[in-house]
Amino acid sequence: MADTSRVLKAVVPAAGLGTRFLPATKATPKEMLPVVDKPAIQYVVEEAVDAGLSDVLMITGRSKRSIEDHFDRAYELEEALRAKGDDERLNAVHESSDLAVMHYVRQGEPRGLGHAVHCARQHVGNEPFAVLLGDDMIDARDKLLHRMIEVRDRHGGSVIALMEVEPDQVSSYGCAAIEATDEDDVVRVSDLVEKPSAEEAPSNWIIIGRYICDPAVFDVLEKTPPGRGGEIQLTDALRTLADTPAGQGGGVYGVKFRGRRYDTGNKLEYLRTVVQFASERPDLAPEFMPWLRQFVREHDASNGVGGPGQP
Ligand code: UTP
Repeated sequence: MADTSRVLKAVVPAAGLGTRFLPATKATPKEMLPVVDKPAIQYVVEEAVDAGLSDVLMITGRSKRSIEDHFDRAYELEEALRAKGDDERLNAVHESSDLAVMHYVRQGEPRGLGHAVHCARQHVGNEPFAVLLGDDMIDARDKLLHRMIEVRDRHGGSVIALMEVEPDQVSSYGCAAIEATDEDDVVRVSDLVEKPSAEEAPSNWIIIGRYICDPAVFDVLEKTPPGRGGEIQLTDALRTLADTPAGQGGGVYGVKFRGRRYDTGNKLEYLRTVVQFASERPDLAPEFMPWLRQFVREHDASNGVGGPGQP
């Protein structure tokens, strides 16, 4: 019988080293890099709150100060804005501190995503919980987390989010072996393989940064040895759960996500995300878009792109 406890808490791991984004991430977590004028992690917390999870635990690392400060009040700044009568910016500053009930725990050493999630054990207790990676954004119009919570409510166990990629891209991700259910967007996950070759890949559905975990994951993580890169992998623990009976907290389902996702921990994706968000901002787009079009035209002309015989 499915466990009926509700998902109420969100865990946001943000303690990774962010090496792909050095030197920007030397003293700033990559989750704090701005997407236009808000750090990526604020969009992630907004998504959790939108799905009804207003208790948010951040797993932080070396440079946790900026994350804590961002979600806290900033009295001096607020006073200065109030004195100037700048209500618009004052509201923007308040927004992040009024969003959710924030909690913090420090990971100490970045020993992998699985280890970061295990750090949440005491706060989460014996309840199912959501994990949202702090550098992985899902468009606010696409209600992935709501759907994952519904699937967990119906089936129990754990739920992962899956996205389809071209077969030649599978080798960069965790990949799921899946079986259809009677719902088009829900699959049963029978196995997970970390970074398989195109031939070994059981499907071209890859794992993205949203999970609903059964609390059974904590005991499994405790026994999970370091895997790829010497890190304790959440994927390895979920693989064990896929093979565990439902009565013991096992069973893993997947939600096939066909919406918009922005991986801001990757430089190229980050740049695309910033441009895309700017293009949809009514305060910026009217000036930004004409500039962008002209920039691309001039750039192409001076590099000979688009001329005779060119794409
Ligand atoms: P990544 O593998 O993308 O993060 O982890 P990373 O190690 O910081 O990135 P690179 O490859 O060096 O650039 C996915 C998520 O898990 C968190 C990260 O902060 C990110 O949100 N994480 C990873 C932790 O919290 N702790 C860890 O030990 C590892």
